[in-house]
Amino acid sequence: MCGIVAYIGPREAYPIILKGLKRLEYRGYDSSGVALLDNDLRVYKKKGKVAELEDSLVGKDLHAHAGMGHTRWATHGEPNDRNAHPHSSSSGRLAMIHNGIIENYAQLKNELIRKGYKFVSDTDTEVLLNFIEDIQKNNNCGLEEAVRIALKRVVGAYVIILLDKESPDTIIAARKGSPLVIGIGKGEHFLASDASPIIEYTKEVVYVNDYELAILKADELILKNLGNEKLTPYVQSLDLELAAIEKGGYDHFMLKEIFEQPDTIFDCLRGRLDVTKGTITMAGIQQNIERLTKANRIIMVACGTSWHAGLVAEYIFEELCRIPVEVEYASEFRYRNPVIHPGDVIIAISQSGETADTIVAIEKAKENGAFILGVVNVVGSSIARISNAGAYTHAGPEIGVASTKAFTAQLTVLTMIALKVAKEKGTIDNTRYMQLLGELHSMPEKVKEVLKLSKPIEKLAARYKDAADALYLGRGYNFPVALEGALKLKEISYIHAEGYPAAEMKHGPIALVDEHLPVVFVATKDSYHEKIVSNIQEIKARKGKVIAVITQGDEIIEKMADDYIAIPESDELVAPILSAIPMQLLAYYIGVAKGYDVDKPRNLAKSVTVE
Ligand code: F6R
Repeated sequence: MCGIVAYIGPREAYPIILKGLKRLEYRGYDSSGVALLDNDLRVYKKKGKVAELEDSLVGKDLHAHAGMGHTRWATHGEPNDRNAHPHSSSSGRLAMIHNGIIENYAQLKNELIRKGYKFVSDTDTEVLLNFIEDIQKNNNCGLEEAVRIALKRVVGAYVIILLDKESPDTIIAARKGSPLVIGIGKGEHFLASDASPIIEYTKEVVYVNDYELAILKADELILKNLGNEKLTPYVQSLDLELAAIEKGGYDHFMLKEIFEQPDTIFDCLRGRLDVTKGTITMAGIQQNIERLTKANRIIMVACGTSWHAGLVAEYIFEELCRIPVEVEYASEFRYRNPVIHPGDVIIAISQSGETADTIVAIEKAKENGAFILGVVNVVGSSIARISNAGAYTHAGPEIGVASTKAFTAQLTVLTMIALKVAKEKGTIDNTRYMQLLGELHSMPEKVKEVLKLSKPIEKLAARYKDAADALYLGRGYNFPVALEGALKLKEISYIHAEGYPAAEMKHGPIALVDEHLPVVFVATKDSYHEKIVSNIQEIKARKGKVIAVITQGDEIIEKMADDYIAIPESDELVAPILSAIPMQLLAYYIGVAKGYDVDKPRNLAKSVTVE
């Protein structure tokens, strides 16, 4: 949610910043802008995607060795040139970019208006910038000190980067709640929301923590806390290759990521699952196994697609571990004063590891003594760091805004955790345990089989692309997959879609069914099969169009459905890993058929770092 990038060093800053913005565009694409600092401070910004900014700058003098750029997901103020970042201070001396929300901006703005400040944008960012400038003037202090004083009064989340016309050799950055990575080169420094703009220049990085301030020159990095004490930067080496963040011949990142799933699931299992020995090796789980086996309750906390993974995991944990599970929207959990006991285990699920709602939910649970287990994709992200223990999903960078490979990796990791806990607790017999290990082991190959259906699914998409609405239904383990299918369709194709437990449709949604309504059934062979067959009959009786995801060889549903997608047989417990994939492909091909930018759907952004 908003991408930020900056550079200081001997190279030309603009090309580095521009390339970085293109890599970060998945975080927001309402507007973009750059500020370049040499003898003067120049700010250029424009509504729309980074390519539009780039076009508007052709022919301009963009020479500079320090600069910063921003790609915006609008919070305060509609997307337009005025509200685009970077913002300039009233005097024109400072420029700033910001990712996050300043919650007490209205109060600060009123104070500044009373002092005679005028604002040209509707943003909270311009308020914070002028607040900093005002402190600098009144206290007659340097920018670093003014930032420190200002941030003590700020309520909210931020990463800010500032340039000062009077100090062209320095960049100042600070963080609370939004991500910031510093890349350390030879006589140069890079800053960004994630490592993607940095990896082609250096693999040495420092993840800035909350309430830290970085003062960067080309050849010097000083890290301080808000109390002005120097900190020792913890330099880490990035385990990320450039190819992982490029499209690699696919039309879209989303398609590439869907097709990566045999490998990402394999990577997720690799070194952990050993079917011959019958073991699951997960250090973070093993070290805390008693917490899990003795948990009074597990609470899954997540948002969006990750929340759907939590719902599948609820079924799995209750079945295998016999521990009561609740699945919570992080945003609701945080604000409704939940009852949390020290014996509770919170499983926080997040692709980005930066989702603000999930972070605050974790903080709330921690305050109440709960143990936090993070299931996170992005290594070194905030959630990974604030959790007591965790397991990475190892899906690699997910750049398409709609989550795909992260979801199946989450399901894989959560299933392994549940199996490990069940084995330790003695709630699973050895035969079933070994059978499920075998099922997980076979997933990468079976996913490859599912992906072979992409052409027929593309044809199906062409037939249904003009639908105004769609209903997604499933039962048991496949119910959350129906929710996920509906979410994918909404996000990518802007078609209104609802997901429901198949039996629940009789209690209302069936009123929507007529000959125009496509109803997608996630109906693989499982213990609910007969029941879902009846639900399909009920839709057919009302002339609804049935598209069914079924198990290969299921002649009963083949005959009833208008269209079907047959996927390999699997145990019902792991079936969602397979049945989710036709949902992803259907949404993708409908979005493409409608001519939409599926990697950057309107109004969305990856990594939702505002509450
Ligand atoms: C949907 C999607 C979102 C995310 C949600 C949580 O395709 O990507 O619903 O799942 O914003 O994000 P993470 O998993 O990064 O916490």
